[in-house]
Amino acid sequence: MKVGILGSGDVGKVLAAGFLKHGHEVRIGTRTPDKLAEWGQKNPRVRIGSFGDSATFAEIIVLAVKGTVATEALRAAGVASLAGKIVIDTTNPIADAPPTNGVLKFFTDLDQSLMERLQREFENVRFVKAFNSVGSTCIVNPQFKGGTPTMFICGNDDAAKRAVAGILAQFGWETADMGKAEAARAIEPLCMLWCISGFLHNDWVHAFKLLTTSS
Ligand SMILES: NC(=O)c1ccc[n+]([C@@H]2O[C@H](COP(=O)([O-])OP(=O)(O)OC[C@H]3O[C@@H](n4cnc5c(N)ncnc54)[C@H](OP(=O)(O)O)[C@@H]3O)[C@@H](O)[C@H]2O)c1
Repeated sequence: MKVGILGSGDVGKVLAAGFLKHGHEVRIGTRTPDKLAEWGQKNPRVRIGSFGDSATFAEIIVLAVKGTVATEALRAAGVASLAGKIVIDTTNPIADAPPTNGVLKFFTDLDQSLMERLQREFENVRFVKAFNSVGSTCIVNPQFKGGTPTMFICGNDDAAKRAVAGILAQFGWETADMGKAEAARAIEPLCMLWCISGFLHNDWVHAFKLLTTSS
């Protein structure tokens, strides 16, 4: 698939390399391509350009920017280039204020997630929340003693979620589909929970696993 990444932070770069590893074509978008010059030399098969270049090129898009600017980045990518496409939403609504005792502050509340806001503004985009509740170093084919980790996902479009579950399987994850966009109200705060042991104990290598009685 042709994958367009919006975002040049750790998540964007790790996912770009992961998609390449699994045989996809990748373009990464940033406001300042120069800042990726060194990374680009190490990853010569990834094309670097603007948010718009990535979105236009892509069959499937990954949104990996700071939560506070998610809307701005999608607008910069271009509404027409996003229309009808799957957008894997990795973002978290982390506020600029510092954490309290290791607990991040959000600019959303439990009755409204960031992904729902994005879905409302970009109506014909097929958003799927994924990859938001694990650290960037554990995103691509992580190895845990406890076995295959679980990625909680949600979104309004079932076909889009099936496509993302396929990608997650390639990346070494099992998928727990939590339903429609509203479920992002529960999935986004998993990032708070995930980060606490990092802030309190400097443990940044872990993931969630859903245990069930079914096989
Ligand atoms: N870091 C992790 O381990 C991790 C794990 C899971 C999920 N997440 C979530 O994934 C997202 C990306 O995280 P990250 O750590 O990779 O990067 P980040 O530092 O949160 O964000 C960097 C990206 O935000 C973009 N950005 C900043 N201000 C902007 C603006 N005014 N307009 C448009 N774009 C702007 C930057 O664009 P330029 O390239 O143009 O500078 C850059 O691509 C976040 O929402 C985060 O909560 C992070």
